[in-house]
Amino acid sequence: MEMPIHPGTSSAIVILDFGSQYTQLIARRIREQNVFSVVLPCTASLETIQQANPAGIILSGGPSSIYDADAPAADPRILTMGKPVLGICYGLHFITHHLGGRVRSASLREYGHADLEIVSPAVLLEGLPNQLQVWMSHGDEALELAPGFSLIAKTSNAVAGIADEARRIWAVQFHPEVHHTKLGTELLRNFLFRICQVAPDWTPQHFVQETVQRIREQVGDGHAICALSGGVDSSVAAVLVDRAIGDRLTCIFVDNGVLRKNEFQKVQENLRLRLGLNLVAVDASKQFLAKLAGVNDPETKRKIIGNEFIAVFDAEAHRIAQQTGSVDWLVQGTLYPDVIESSSVKGPSQTIKSHHNVGGLPETMKLRLIEPLRDLFKDEVRRIGRDLQMPEDILQRQPFPGPGLAVRILGEVTPERVRILQEADDIVVNEIKAAGLYQKIWQSFAVLLPVRSVGVMGDQRTYANTCAIRAVHSEDGMTADWTPLPYEVLKRISSRIVNEVSGINRVVYDITSKPPGTIEWE
Ligand code: XMP
Repeated sequence: MEMPIHPGTSSAIVILDFGSQYTQLIARRIREQNVFSVVLPCTASLETIQQANPAGIILSGGPSSIYDADAPAADPRILTMGKPVLGICYGLHFITHHLGGRVRSASLREYGHADLEIVSPAVLLEGLPNQLQVWMSHGDEALELAPGFSLIAKTSNAVAGIADEARRIWAVQFHPEVHHTKLGTELLRNFLFRICQVAPDWTPQHFVQETVQRIREQVGDGHAICALSGGVDSSVAAVLVDRAIGDRLTCIFVDNGVLRKNEFQKVQENLRLRLGLNLVAVDASKQFLAKLAGVNDPETKRKIIGNEFIAVFDAEAHRIAQQTGSVDWLVQGTLYPDVIESSSVKGPSQTIKSHHNVGGLPETMKLRLIEPLRDLFKDEVRRIGRDLQMPEDILQRQPFPGPGLAVRILGEVTPERVRILQEADDIVVNEIKAAGLYQKIWQSFAVLLPVRSVGVMGDQRTYANTCAIRAVHSEDGMTADWTPLPYEVLKRISSRIVNEVSGINRVVYDITSKPPGTIEWE
């Protein structure tokens, strides 16, 4: 696995991932304290862990029992490296098991809220009240503590916290990283600042300076290209690289025929005039729409758009290489969750949809990658964007899929159906913005269904298209809850669409969460 580039902060907290659903959350909570954290698979070698320059190590929770035949294991030498260790849930079981204690299946499984009582003073729990509410999620428990450990906290039926302050190892049975654990952040802060004594120097300014400097050194006199969508990630990545190498970065923005209303112009303005990027805009809409004619199957539509994008991008890259002498680097807005996902202990999840970003570019292009955001979470990317003084409307833009409106036009994509959806979508976006909801919602958009129904307008019978409204709340797009938009907003959206968009005479509201639905309809 490639090591995340160390951002040059004084130190990092290494989180070893035993497969918990909360591992990323631990990383985020630590970064919220301006301390750099990196997630490594629990199987990472001692050498890899050392390379990350850890000031402390956190062992995550995990779904396994320590006695399972395939229970994930870390190199036990991490417990004797002399770095402070904090075990969480499975991490506690791992520590107890490897240092000579005993773990067993709990007679009473604890999931959800539990009341914790602190039974002896410990630096990890300093400043916390004697009783507090914590979040448990486990089937196993420590039965006998390992030699040298003492009990520091308990719930009514389990060991909740242990410590061996001489060896600088602490562990808790509950999850301090989840919001349900009141004061969990205080516990993590104690680990970071009292125990590991790290400096809170993981700040946007620091990151920008270090990254710009590093890109400058990496790229030398080379040339780079970047596929821009106008979204947050690729825009922030491009601005960082632009700061480092200026016009030796050429950004490419492609009109694939399924962008939103006026988006081709608006994104060009944003990128050129407001961000000062060196931009090539390619109108390939006709060529994309020609390829999509007559195609109904969602996956085929996605593949066509992906392949066509690669063809257009490749041709542009060659053209730019002829002008500049060479193109050596490709800038991508890969984020940390993608990096963790591809290296975690969990197996790859089943492909539901073939998502495509520029990650699918042909290897024959032989470009080396610059991924300035590969250590960051989405909210950190926004913070960096703010530090770079990028306009807020770019930073707050809702995610928009690579295959664009094509996955929101069910059935065949035709120029007329694109026009209809662009108009309807524009009304949704504007009304959501006018209601002050745009930034509070993960995504809100219109979907054009392959369904026509009868209606009546001005004494005339109509027989026209149906449009669905979708609005969801989500943390990361992996799961999502449908948003109960206020009736007044729904009412305005519905009446404006039916009155203003010729071709739509009925509006319905999608009240499906993910799972079982997905966010996009195709
Ligand atoms: P689904 O529909 O899978 O979407 O629930 C989850 C998130 O991913 C976005 N999405 C895409 N993003 N290329 C992208 O860059 C794609 O092909 C793609 N398909 C879906 C979707 O908008 C949502 O935020």
